[in-house]
Amino acid sequence: MNKQILFESFNLKEIALKNRVVMAPMTRSRSDNPGSVATELTALYYAQRASAGLIITEGTYVNRDAVGYINVPGIYTAEQVQGWKLVTEAVHQQGGKIFAQLWHVGRMSHPDLLNGQLPLAPSALNPFEKVFTPEGFTETVEAREMTLDEIKKTITDFKNAAINAMEAGFDGVELHSSNGYLLHQFFNLYSNKRQDQYGDSVENRARILFDILDELKVIMDLSKVGVRLNPSLNGFLGMKVDEETIATFDYIVTRLNDYNLAYLHLSEPFTDVSGNQNAIQEVAKHYRPIYKGTIIINRGFTKDAATKVLNDGHADLVSFGVPYIANPDLVERFKADAVISSPDQTTFYTPGEKGYTDYPFINKN
Ligand SMILES: Cc1cc2nc3c(=O)[nH]c(=O)nc-3n(C[C@H](O)[C@H](O)[C@H](O)COP(=O)(O)O)c2cc1C
Repeated sequence: MNKQILFESFNLKEIALKNRVVMAPMTRSRSDNPGSVATELTALYYAQRASAGLIITEGTYVNRDAVGYINVPGIYTAEQVQGWKLVTEAVHQQGGKIFAQLWHVGRMSHPDLLNGQLPLAPSALNPFEKVFTPEGFTETVEAREMTLDEIKKTITDFKNAAINAMEAGFDGVELHSSNGYLLHQFFNLYSNKRQDQYGDSVENRARILFDILDELKVIMDLSKVGVRLNPSLNGFLGMKVDEETIATFDYIVTRLNDYNLAYLHLSEPFTDVSGNQNAIQEVAKHYRPIYKGTIIINRGFTKDAATKVLNDGHADLVSFGVPYIANPDLVERFKADAVISSPDQTTFYTPGEKGYTDYPFINKN
């Protein structure tokens, strides 16, 4: 077994990664300013973590309708683009690479976050979850079904967000088509009851993702675009595996082979799905023979498990979420077999530097 494989460089199409450790996208809710702008503090946070081979930012909203959590930075105004420039410059100065995760929450929102409007979704359904509004944790409501014009506008908004991301100096973008948010809501039979060209059949439920990719193809090289999928999301964020989950995601992943993407970012199941015949039990293992490009695998990895999955050939890169919160120098800690600290969960989404940029480095104290 190659024990150093995690620290080997990797060629992500034309982007040279210095190792195979990826920082997974994580919402940290530090943009507590009127314009929902990434700040110098955001830049410091990501620059501290720039020894990762690749950073994927927190989800960033593609338009005003996409909002579902407070204090999350957007990427749809000129001011927001200026904010993200601080981030990309700081990361590049440290020799890092960074993709922006483009996000629309769909029904995982609330009128209190949308100037009184109902959340937009494939169908008029309530996910029966809680979302964090200025009033605190609040029950979700029944969403409003998107019209075809609204779907078209949203596709354009993803395209414009990608243009903004490239203007802000990002190395690429990741489409957040995962974790029960808008694009994932289209894929799933329980969240999509449409009977038009965006519902019913597998091809129709997957259509919005390919519509966005076809738009992006016109304005940028798809080798700078990643796609995130969490096929076996079950009993989490309002989602349930349905009887066509395997067929749907097999169709999506097979078709993604035609798009020459930077990567496919997959998650292993977030909850126990053993015994659920409709769920993919081992996601990387299932998709490695199907997907011809680069696979990033996520969820619950330690250094040893990551080394194993790479050596087994089930993935090319491994992304780490929670470990990156309290260990800005995660790569150095892995190299030194140093202690991996646990983060303070009470400061995951609170404003300011506490629990954000004040975690120590092993070699700087
Ligand atoms: C605080 C927090 C915020 C997150 N925000 C996002 C997000 O904005 N976009 C996303 O795709 N996943 C998000 N995730 C999920 C992570 O990317 C990752 O899938 C999850 O933490 C499991 O990986 P881990 O076991 O390495 O932490 C978030 C996770 C955490 C803990």
